[in-house]
Amino acid sequence: MGQELSQYKKAIEQSNIVSKTDIDGIITFVNDEFCKISGYGKEELIGKNHNIVRHPDVPKSDFKLLWDTILSKKTFKTTAKNMSKNGSTFYVNTTIAPILDKNGDIQEFIAIRYDVTSNVMLTEALKNKEEELSLLNSMLEKRIQEQTRKLRMLNQDLEKRIAEEAEKNREKDRMMFQQARLAAMGETIGNIAHQWRQPLSELGIIMFTMKKYSLDSNKKDIQKQYEHAKKVIARMSKTIEDFRNFFSPAKSKDNFFVKDVIDEVFSILEGSLSKAAINVKIEIDESIMAYGYKNELSQAILNIVSNAKDALLDKSADERELKISSKYENGFVLISIADNAGGIDNEVIDKIFEPYFTTKHASSGTGLGLYIVKMIIENSMNGTVRVKNQDAGADFIIKIPIQGGQ
Ligand SMILES: Nc1ncnc2c1ncn2[C@@H]1O[C@H](COP(=O)(O)OP(=O)(O)OP(=O)(O)O)[C@@H](O)[C@H]1O
Ligand SMILES: [Mg+2]
Repeated sequence: MGQELSQYKKAIEQSNIVSKTDIDGIITFVNDEFCKISGYGKEELIGKNHNIVRHPDVPKSDFKLLWDTILSKKTFKTTAKNMSKNGSTFYVNTTIAPILDKNGDIQEFIAIRYDVTSNVMLTEALKNKEEELSLLNSMLEKRIQEQTRKLRMLNQDLEKRIAEEAEKNREKDRMMFQQARLAAMGETIGNIAHQWRQPLSELGIIMFTMKKYSLDSNKKDIQKQYEHAKKVIARMSKTIEDFRNFFSPAKSKDNFFVKDVIDEVFSILEGSLSKAAINVKIEIDESIMAYGYKNELSQAILNIVSNAKDALLDKSADERELKISSKYENGFVLISIADNAGGIDNEVIDKIFEPYFTTKHASSGTGLGLYIVKMIIENSMNGTVRVKNQDAGADFIIKIPIQGGQ
């Protein structure tokens, strides 16, 4: 039995780190394994308090629990953090058991341990890595949030800038219309001047004749001259009225006769067209009706006719022709304005509706005429406008709805 016991002891001592202390914790025995892991020699340990390997990190309360347990004759198990002679840390899985004498009193304590340093270190390293990872993760999340926020801001900024640009474009369009209106006004004044020249000289003659008759006391003839003068003045004021109507902005969409629009345009352009000796043919059924802004359509047709007039000026005076016609087709009204001025060059025909495109630099065309036509017909009137070269010249075809809601 005694021999068996000593074999057990040997086996344990060879495989474990073993120490013994007296009841006060003073070391009475250490095996080689203990010396190896702690870095102390046997002679440095025997007689010293066991707390020689105590690690400063371990809280006092742990030791209190240890002592309370073993002093009450129970076994204490823990994974202890210790410090070796050279200051390095080691972890040991420890079992401390009190050895009792015959009377059941504590005789000494035996501590049996095995080294778990690498396990603990690994676990700690793993924990560190996990912490690093979760930190990295939260950093990433934060960065993603930040990037998302930046993107959102950029998006808002972009939206704002797009809105601003759109507003600028609208402003540009308004200015273009204004510019074109001014140009048309200039032309209008020219036209009024032209149309007034004749009645003004007529009035001059009437006044002269009236003066002559008044000297002769020819009352009857004075009365006749007076009536004539009134007619001339009425004609002049009608001219002004025509222009005023033409330039008053459209209030609402309405049904109107196409022929009325055409007549209005030609009464305004009468002066300049007859001066240019253009033979105008209007072939429009009086009953054809369309829907939209009447005055805007007049302006569009006026622009197209003005272009035709400009183009026709390059042709010899006795051949200048302009033909306006209109018909219904598939729920739309088509208005064709065709000249015999030779047509539009194929290189530029796709560009003529673009703003500021002009071939009239010398005579200072603004290049806005057809752009405005397109805006009026397509944006305000829900129609289309296109051009083709045919026979002897250009043919502009406007297509607009017959009725509202199309
Ligand atoms: N009937 C036509 N025959 C030949 N070319 C034409 C005709 N109508 C338009 N064009 C061409 O299209 C171009 C653009 O016309 P648009 O009315 O837009 O500008 P513009 O007449 O040059 O200038 P603006 O009308 O502003 O004074 C003209 O410069 C001209 O070259
Ligand atoms: Mg023009």
